[in-house]
Amino acid sequence: METSITSIITELVGLVSFTRTPSIFSSSFFTILALIVGVLGYFYGPYWGVRRVPGPPAIPFVGHLPLLAKHGPDLFAILAKKYGPIYRFHMGRQPLVIVADAELCREVGIKKFKEIPNRSIPSPILASPLHQKGLFWIRDSRWSTMRNTILSVYQPSHLAKLVPMMQSFIETTSNNISLDDQDVNFNELSLMMATDVIGKAAFGFDFGLSNSKNHQHNDKKIDSFIKQHIYSTTMLKMDLSGSFSIILGLLLPILQEPFRQILKRIPFSMDWKIERTNKNLSSQIDEFVVKKMKEKERGSKDFLSLILNARESETVSKELFTPDYISGITYEHLLAGSTTTSFTLSSVVYLVSGHADVENKLLEEIDAFGPRDKVPTADDLQTKFPYLDQASKILSNKTFVVPLGS
Ligand code: HEM
Repeated sequence: METSITSIITELVGLVSFTRTPSIFSSSFFTILALIVGVLGYFYGPYWGVRRVPGPPAIPFVGHLPLLAKHGPDLFAILAKKYGPIYRFHMGRQPLVIVADAELCREVGIKKFKEIPNRSIPSPILASPLHQKGLFWIRDSRWSTMRNTILSVYQPSHLAKLVPMMQSFIETTSNNISLDDQDVNFNELSLMMATDVIGKAAFGFDFGLSNSKNHQHNDKKIDSFIKQHIYSTTMLKMDLSGSFSIILGLLLPILQEPFRQILKRIPFSMDWKIERTNKNLSSQIDEFVVKKMKEKERGSKDFLSLILNARESETVSKELFTPDYISGITYEHLLAGSTTTSFTLSSVVYLVSGHADVENKLLEEIDAFGPRDKVPTADDLQTKFPYLDQASKILSNKTFVVPLGS
């Protein structure tokens, strides 16, 4: 009896283990299969939609970033030559379709605008709420409403009024250039000048950077604002030299935010520094905005005042133009206006310096306008400098508008 019970139990255990083995096996198999399909879907999903667009083979995870590290910005011209005016470029997992032809750009950006409405948000921007609240990254109806509202700031009549202010910063900058035989870092010089111009146009505030040689302002707050602005801007890197969470955002976007949340709490990590800088910048810009809001006689000369006036007279919606978005687009102007302008000016000087004939013709045209202190009107700028106009158009076709990687 005892043996038969034992044998029954043994048989049952055998049966159970026999029937359980394949079920464990099959469930593990399906779990691994699902994982593989999930990982492949995650990494190759974005590629699938644009797989027919020509482009070089992409390396798993990093895409074409190693090519960018190898060739720098020249890569885009090399790829256009090899793959034609429309090609694929993989920023890590994210494929971008690059349009490298002026007429096709017009087609995509203007004629087909409604079908391609929003910009995708790159990983450096995802790490910074301050940057996300500017026109570059806001989306859909918020973008169109806010953009339509600020368009008035770009009316030729308003821009024409800014010319004397620009001229005064240009004069201050040129008066500060050392006349002895020292090298001049033109990029730095033009960045200071452009930041002053945009600071005045965007905030109505004189940062006093163009005048730094004769007049060392003792305002530590301004110095720290500018330093943080430059740090924050140079940290917007797309070339695998940014913070760990930004690099993760390029390779494995799903992990960017969780890692950023952890790393921003670890003192002295790059994510911690970026978070701290952006928080400081945000609070300083918020201070500018609040100060302007309280000013009774703020006038309407700068961008910030124009938005605040429109908000108060209810010409624009207060729900849309909340203080954080006002700070966002005001700061964006400083950022979008200064680096682009200084980089364009530096590139022009660099390229012209290699062509003595062009340089001489430009100088002739500028000298013929009149004595040094004659301030041109907006109309003069349009009509009296045809050669300068032509040269700058040709040059801007030859160079990148902003340094890539920042
Ligand atoms: C030489 C100087 C400049 C160059 C080369 C330049 C270039 C560009 C480019 C290529 C875009 C993207 C256009 C697009 O994707 O459709 C852009 C957008 C923008 N730029 Fe500039 N820019 C310059 C100066 C400025 C200045 C001086 C400001 C402001 C003070 C400014 C503010 C903006 C803003 C706000 C946007 C976003 C517009 C939107 O999304 O609606 N830029 N710029």
